[in-house]
Amino acid sequence: MKVLVVGNGGREHALAWKLLQSKQIEQVVCVPGNGGTASMERCQNLPLAVDDFEGMSRYALENGITLVIVGPEVPLAKGITDYLQDKGLMVFGPVRAGAQIEASKAWAKALMQEAGIPTARAAVFTQAAAAKSYVKSQGAPIVVKADGLAAGKGVTVAETVAQAESAVDAIFQGQFGSAGEFVVIEECLIGQEVSVLALTDGLTIRPLLPAQDHKRIGEGDTGENTGGMGAYSPAPIATPELMARIQREVLERAIATLRAKGIDYRGVLYAGLMIAPDGDLKVLEFNCRFGDPETQVILPLLETPLEDLILACVQQRLSEFPPIAWKGGASATVVAASGGYPGEYNKGQVITGIGEAEATGATVFHAGTKLNQQQQVVTDGGRVLNVTGIGENFEQAIAQAYAGIKHIQFDGIYYRRDIGHRAVSAKQGEQTP
Ligand code: AMP
Ligand code: GLY
Repeated sequence: MKVLVVGNGGREHALAWKLLQSKQIEQVVCVPGNGGTASMERCQNLPLAVDDFEGMSRYALENGITLVIVGPEVPLAKGITDYLQDKGLMVFGPVRAGAQIEASKAWAKALMQEAGIPTARAAVFTQAAAAKSYVKSQGAPIVVKADGLAAGKGVTVAETVAQAESAVDAIFQGQFGSAGEFVVIEECLIGQEVSVLALTDGLTIRPLLPAQDHKRIGEGDTGENTGGMGAYSPAPIATPELMARIQREVLERAIATLRAKGIDYRGVLYAGLMIAPDGDLKVLEFNCRFGDPETQVILPLLETPLEDLILACVQQRLSEFPPIAWKGGASATVVAASGGYPGEYNKGQVITGIGEAEATGATVFHAGTKLNQQQQVVTDGGRVLNVTGIGENFEQAIAQAYAGIKHIQFDGIYYRRDIGHRAVSAKQGEQTP
């Protein structure tokens, strides 16, 4: 099989890496890929934009690509799947109508209400004045969300009414472009977040191992929000009982309701959930794709060949597929970021120590990297590398990730030293009743 992977992050490097562990995979082509995908055997980059559907389809048809796997939400929301399917290609990732579950928070909220999926109480507005008077009537804390795709920056968890009002103004003043034509205002939930990525063929839906990520830049989960500074799996909070409830009350209801709307959703359905201290669960958001950096901790634990699972989804035979096999144990990933991220940062810094990091047994997934003209790996983004460790337990997995990352050097490197602290204390909590 020849597979085309769309995207250029750590998630796409992990997808390509996992696929290439299988002898069935002759070649992976990443569009546009990064320094890591450029450096793997049987893998190459194709320098096209992720929304150049015509270019991708021409390449895929001329080069015998069997399957296209779409990483990011933007091309899915623009209809890459519809386009490539029309050309006769097999695509993993929902059609445009299905991608609305991530691309419009108002649409997703309506779907959850229709499906009876537990979620935060919310109201949708198209006018700033009405939104602000609703904020005043509800009081703070309160959550203000731009409706559309905003690269993870469209949500404000406001501590005060004034903060919520300025978030409303920013959205309606066009800070998020067309993502800001609607605003969703919802009650502020407290608890622990967990990401449940599930694979579906439109009829059957099967969860992968639950994961948790660390969104804040600073240790102790403080400071600004980022795209994610690290993650671990399986999330201890997602007990088998909780996973069974998520399956029944969230995943199956979502798929049944999508189907009832005539949407044949084949791909990843990712539920971002808040688990309250009393065990109550609510959906914060749905994503229409693999999570990043969750994928970088989930795939290293997956035993079942990824391409078999993905083909079962695309060909709608997931109900017959055997149970998904996992390695057991745990995994953790630590993100090496450019100094200054999530604010301003430099690019083009030479990265050293990747080979030494891998020699410790850790796996280094590239995110914001590229090869320069001298074929050196250089920084090319805010989140640069994800160093992943696996082990029999979280202590081992985390130790492997940190043993690896300490060999990595580039000017301004920053990473959190406390990734997985919650998983370790949850486990210790279990041992000392
Ligand atoms: P979303 O893109 O909707 O997941 O929101 C991004 C982040 O904002 C989530 O991962 C949460 O940390 C936070 N968030 C979103 N909705 C809520 C809510 N209703 N209550 C508390 N925090 C929220
Ligand atoms: N890890 C959060 C996301 O992929 O949206």
